Amino acid sequence: MSKLFTPVKVGPHEFAHRVVLAPLTRMRAEGGAVPGPLMAQYYAQRSSPGALLIGEATIAAPNGNGYLGAPGLYDDSQIAGWRLVTDAVHAKGAKIFLQLYHAGRQSNSEVQPEGSQPVGPSAIPHGGVAYTKAGWVANTPNRALEIEEIAELVESFRRAAERGLEAGFDGVELHAANGYLFDQFLQDGSNKRTDIYGGSFENRARFLLEATRAVISVWGSDRVAVRMGPSGSFGDMSDSDPEGLFTYVATELGKLNLAYLHLIEPRVRGNLDDETRNPNPVASQLIRKFYSGTIIAAGGFKAASAEALITAGDADLVAFGRDFIANPDLPERLRRRLPLNPYDRETFFGGTDVGYVDYPFHEERAAA
Ligand SMILES: Cc1cc2nc3c(=O)[nH]c(=O)nc-3n(C[C@H](O)[C@H](O)[C@H](O)COP(=O)(O)O)c2cc1C
Repeated sequence: MSKLFTPVKVGPHEFAHRVVLAPLTRMRAEGGAVPGPLMAQYYAQRSSPGALLIGEATIAAPNGNGYLGAPGLYDDSQIAGWRLVTDAVHAKGAKIFLQLYHAGRQSNSEVQPEGSQPVGPSAIPHGGVAYTKAGWVANTPNRALEIEEIAELVESFRRAAERGLEAGFDGVELHAANGYLFDQFLQDGSNKRTDIYGGSFENRARFLLEATRAVISVWGSDRVAVRMGPSGSFGDMSDSDPEGLFTYVATELGKLNLAYLHLIEPRVRGNLDDETRNPNPVASQLIRKFYSGTIIAAGGFKAASAEALITAGDADLVAFGRDFIANPDLPERLRRRLPLNPYDRETFFGGTDVGYVDYPFHEERAAA
């Protein structure tokens, strides 16, 4: 019998199966980083009774953007737009977690308030791209955050989480993967600080743990989650001891009684397969030894590999990204072993309804 299609409890929530919509930046927000009806339609299409969705990376502070068209919750004016999304998801009997993030150094001045310089833990040269009116452009070199600014950012995450509650979400996931600000603090290729936020594992994990506790103060621990990418290199990231670092962070997060820990397998680099990496789900296998709570795994899974991972006990749920973009009814297709629509990378980021809400459901495809 398929374990992927057995019920599961995540914090206070009951889900009918273990196929999760991965957080997916699609850059279709309206002016002011506000979700509109198109986004509500997209999430509604991917909702079905008893399903868990994770919303796309949502900017938690005014200087946290890296992609024009990404949505925010750094301002009260962004709450009503998200209400359209959460209402549409709930009307279909599904639940949705908010993913809060800050791009940190992965940004360009063009998408910063008044053209200011992006921020990060340390000012060191790095690669990567941001999305602006001019399209994909190189990141602007960043400045290092002052220590007082870190406390302000923790408060920004707390306030954004409060807005998420008002907007009707069912929980909050902090995005500490893919080379964004939390990840930049965690990994020592990007964190050269000499204060209490740099150096030891404890110091590098401090910002993430402070922000997690701040969000817990709003939501309670069992509706708060963290996503991390052990050994992730997207965004020009590196660490001198990734195994030591990420097992430390998992152990610390394990003390907080979170809804779940979300892990990205390093065989996927951001939104691309990385053929140079171990093809097995190594992150889940490793972290499971250090974390006994609920784990969601992501990165390159198909029905059979998701099933195998859950059966082995290395994760409890599996999130799907690219296949869910192209298959709004992915859980049903996996359950019935139906063929999948291929995805179109050209329309992943930005643009219109094309490649966003026009992927056919199975019945439509069969009838076409
Ligand atoms: C278009 C696109 C946008 C993404 N945006 C996000 C994001 O906003 N937040 C995040 O944590 N991961 C993001 N990711 C990574 C996915 O959540 C997921 O980890 C990755 O696609 C690997 O899963 P897959 O092999 O099932 O596609 C994105 C991936 C893609 C393809």
